[in-house]
Amino acid sequence: MGIEKGKFVTLEGCEGSGKSTQIEKLKKYLSDCGKEFLFTREPGGTRISEDIRRIILNVDYENMTDETEALLYAAARAQLIGEKILPALDRGEIVLCDRYIDSSFAYQAYARSLGYDFVRQINEVAFTRCMPDLTLFFDISPDEAFQRKGGADADDRLEQSGTEFHRRVYEGYLMLCRKFPERIVRIDARKTPDEVFALVKDVLTERKIIG
Ligand code: TYD
Repeated sequence: MGIEKGKFVTLEGCEGSGKSTQIEKLKKYLSDCGKEFLFTREPGGTRISEDIRRIILNVDYENMTDETEALLYAAARAQLIGEKILPALDRGEIVLCDRYIDSSFAYQAYARSLGYDFVRQINEVAFTRCMPDLTLFFDISPDEAFQRKGGADADDRLEQSGTEFHRRVYEGYLMLCRKFPERIVRIDARKTPDEVFALVKDVLTERKIIG
């Protein structure tokens, strides 16, 4: 009998989509069920990747080029994959990651106009060796999300990028949903947190991640 590989689930959405609330609920639910899982986030999740995160999100680095930004996200990701994600999957665990390669497609390829091919190329490690089994996209437009949240965080360079940018990020995600219809599942994030979580559990059960 072979060793069963774990399952890799990523969570995506625009700023203020309620992703963090759902992640907390999901972590609690999995712990209560006694499931072994690794939770991690991007950019970050390892010492090296967290250091890279500080550079990327530093509001003083206004002059960072779009290419540099994309490469730094890819570097943080490559480290996280090698150090944490692949070993956990080999141990048969569920890996939950708050943002992953689709954020690079939505933010860097689409909203920053670097193009899909460039971002795919610099993320070759992820694309060929470590693609998610399932991606939950918390679907709410940035206009509705910012209204609900009451504005952008002042200490986050990416959140300060303006309404038009975030509209483009959202369009990027919708494009990704069309490009990867099997992998990416849209969750209606305009509902109440409990209703959204019921949808999350349904999808995870249906995809045999839990249950
Ligand atoms: P974070 O505070 O973790 O945002 P959130 O709580 O919305 O997940 O900051 C991460 C920021 O980095 C967020 O604005 C999305 C952006 N990002 C990219 O632009 N490209 C990427 O590949 C990733 C992983 C994140």
